[in-house]
Amino acid sequence: MAVGSEWWRSAVIYQIYPRSFSEGAGATGVGDLAGITARLPALVELGVDAVWVSPFYPSPQKDAGYDVADYCAVDPLFGTLADFDALLKEAHGLGLKFIVDLVPNHTSDQHAWFQAALASPKGSDDRDHYIFREGLGKAGELPPNNWESVFGGPAWTRVIEPDGAPGQWYLHLFDTSQPDLNWHSAWVHEQFREILRFWLGRGVDGFRVDVAHGLMKAPGLPDYTPPVNANSMGLQQELSSDDEPPTPPYWAQDTVHAIYRDWHRVLEQYPGEQVLVAEAWVEPLSKLARWVRPDEMQQAFNFAYLENPWDATAVREIIDGSLAAFGAVGAPSTWVLSNHDVVRHATRLSLVGDHPQGVGVGPASTGVPDRAFGLRRARAATAVMLALPGSAYLYQGEELGLPEVIDLPDTARQDPTWARTHHERYGRDGCRVPLPWEAHAPAYGFSDSGQSWLPQPPYWGGYARDAQAGDEGSTLELYRAALRLRASETLGTGIVTWLEGYPSTALAFSNANVTVIANAGREHVMLPKGELLLSSQPGTVDVLEPDTTVWLRI
Ligand code: NOJ
Repeated sequence: MAVGSEWWRSAVIYQIYPRSFSEGAGATGVGDLAGITARLPALVELGVDAVWVSPFYPSPQKDAGYDVADYCAVDPLFGTLADFDALLKEAHGLGLKFIVDLVPNHTSDQHAWFQAALASPKGSDDRDHYIFREGLGKAGELPPNNWESVFGGPAWTRVIEPDGAPGQWYLHLFDTSQPDLNWHSAWVHEQFREILRFWLGRGVDGFRVDVAHGLMKAPGLPDYTPPVNANSMGLQQELSSDDEPPTPPYWAQDTVHAIYRDWHRVLEQYPGEQVLVAEAWVEPLSKLARWVRPDEMQQAFNFAYLENPWDATAVREIIDGSLAAFGAVGAPSTWVLSNHDVVRHATRLSLVGDHPQGVGVGPASTGVPDRAFGLRRARAATAVMLALPGSAYLYQGEELGLPEVIDLPDTARQDPTWARTHHERYGRDGCRVPLPWEAHAPAYGFSDSGQSWLPQPPYWGGYARDAQAGDEGSTLELYRAALRLRASETLGTGIVTWLEGYPSTALAFSNANVTVIANAGREHVMLPKGELLLSSQPGTVDVLEPDTTVWLRI
């Protein structure tokens, strides 16, 4: 971590997905805040600088907490506000920064604001907090436009009016249970300023802002048909870094930026260095960089980096593109390979064929190679990512080398995508399976009761933290060593200089006093003489085998 100011510019930030991290109290098989508090020392040992905790607010859990029913409280499933305060205090005591998740695009349909909107007549102030419209067709029986939900199916649901008759439709870009807020309402703006102040007052170090590209919609809500090769966010795939794709009327509207300038000013009123992190699926990077202009947010997730295959040319292009685009606005680049919405990179990087983001992989998916092959690539890719200047995000369990769980029973799947697409898309459950902590404990140490809200596979024990700790060749020890070196060699604040003389299927660069060489080709690469600081595969001496990355001192 950079000493002194602007810690976030080079921080390694660990994502905790509370329901799957660790259960400390109760016996529901769902992780909780007490479980996080108890396990924080493991994250300090890992060597991260900060944690980001996905939603733990009261919620019907229709979208695993991204359907918030009260922004200023804790769901009893996860604990109490006192548990939150204890967790925050413990994290700060251990030197960890603490980022919470803010979900401003939509609420749960159980939120009091939406319930009030439903109970109020058309045209009322309460209705105006959401996006209600009359339907099309003779009797308003058709949705107001052709927009589709990210999770599949129409993005509109018709309500029964208080008088018992079918009436208006409301917009939900995600599940039916997640109505979109109306960000043209000054009242909505004021509520969110208050929510920011609530958590800032408790001492958080920032907010990861969910769907930060979605809050404003184009005037008139015009019809839109995504391009044929769009991913689940409606964005075109395989664009070159300069192409600006057509902007869907529900994403990335210019008017959204005024909101983040306003929030920036709210954060400035608090001592310390709090951050706003954009979850914005926006392409190209030069456009995404607008979210992190000096008076807006501090960071934006680099999904263009995450979406890259394990291909040296593509990775080099995206590294250059990211450093240039974010650098142009004075922001740090971020790097990320996994999170709770994508196929874990220990599986994704080895997939063969077409696997669009959001679809997931399951028993009927084709082109899923064996776990050892995927893990080898993931370790190599991680060793590249952690050598880059800027801020890196880790998703819980990647430090254990966890693969996507592909063979979850159909009946266990809970991602709304699975039901909304009538089982056509598996969705995201496979990356959300509760963590293995101890190889020989009930639920692999995730819960005392042995319960686990998604079933853990029988091979989970081999990935358990206690099975890997102290084993030099393990993925956990690779992450620890990389994070130790990243800090001691100040890689987070360094500069990438590409090195010539390597095959085009290799990545070779220096950062500070470290030379990084990654072999993404099928032939081995001869290594220059030097001191081996780190290798993603044990046993590397003077030849770099395929799917391996080394850090050298030359
Ligand atoms: C992005 C979150 O990461 C994802 O998990 C959630 O389903 C959607 N936003 C909707 O809130």
